[in-house]
Amino acid sequence: LKKVGIWGTGAYLPERIMTNKEFESMVDTSDEWIVTRTGIRERRVAAPEEAVSDLSAIAGARALEAAGLAPEEVDLVIVGSCTFDTYLPASACLAAWKMGARRAAAFDLETACTSFIYGCAVGAQFIATGMYRHVLVIGAEVLSKFLDYRDRNTCVLFGDGAGAALLGPVEEGGFKAFDLGADGSGGGLITVPAGGSRMPASAATLEERQHYVKMNGKEVYKFAVRVIGDASQRVLDRAGWRQEEIDMLIPHQANLRIIDSAAKKLGLSMEKVALNLDRCGNMSAASIPVALDEVVRAGKVKRGDRLLMVGFGSGLTWGSMAVEW
Ligand code: ACO
Repeated sequence: LKKVGIWGTGAYLPERIMTNKEFESMVDTSDEWIVTRTGIRERRVAAPEEAVSDLSAIAGARALEAAGLAPEEVDLVIVGSCTFDTYLPASACLAAWKMGARRAAAFDLETACTSFIYGCAVGAQFIATGMYRHVLVIGAEVLSKFLDYRDRNTCVLFGDGAGAALLGPVEEGGFKAFDLGADGSGGGLITVPAGGSRMPASAATLEERQHYVKMNGKEVYKFAVRVIGDASQRVLDRAGWRQEEIDMLIPHQANLRIIDSAAKKLGLSMEKVALNLDRCGNMSAASIPVALDEVVRAGKVKRGDRLLMVGFGSGLTWGSMAVEW
């Protein structure tokens, strides 16, 4: 099997910034509550005409530029998201076309906030076996269009954005280990109930606001704290790394208290944790690849550094990966 690594990263955040203050006129909340309970100060919101494939195409093109690769050289595009443009067709087909990746196969992957980790695990297999050479993995979300701006339990938490990584064969380093998991018994904890085959769209589902994200925050919180520690430890064991050898933790960005607890369990100081939650909120599949792109572009990651990325989300799903830069 060939070794696989990340050749380049890219990201795109919509222009519009929405502050916590703006929610105070919509629901019974405050900037102070949101900051102290979550760590979020503001988030980006896509324009009415922007959908997941648009954000994906920009982030993807930036990753290709960073990798020095022409779009025609991409073999496969995977878009991980839970807020696709439409059910049909796959957003990955549209994103690939918009980027000019005319030779590429393309498909969507949905494991909610864990989609980027799953996408890298899937994409890396194609390269390891020699079937493909260049796989573009994108995590992109336009959650703002699935939020109920009358529900303070959810609307303040999420943001829009996209991040991408171009995967290719490497001589040294690269992906050392993955850990993926799923537990459908918790499938009801974060869900958009209507619009699928379980509850097709109707006037009644619209009336009942069933096309928006519903979440049991308390239960997800407990699950997240447990799974982020377990999934991190399993991937460290598989990679043969000790906790003190981690140079950078890039966790899913849902709540600063969850990230704090993960850092503590791993014995890491917060300087070794990549954060964008305060500026971006929870961008689901986009949180990790955007944070990765930010630390790479800021020069905070050097060759040989050991990166641990870990995510969790609806499904329930979780995943972690160990990458030597
Ligand atoms: N403003 C003011 N009050 C609020 C708000 C708000 N925006 N949201 C909730 N509250 C209230 C609740 O209604 C509750 O009031 P009550 O006691 O009168 O019922 C009170 O605050 C406390 O609620 P808790 O749920 O106990 O608050 P908690 O400290 O747990 O924070 C939060 C809630 C932020 C949602 C937290 O539970 C959390 O972060 N959970 C994890 C979410 C997550 O990780 N999601 C990731 C997956 S997302 C995906 O896959 C797409």
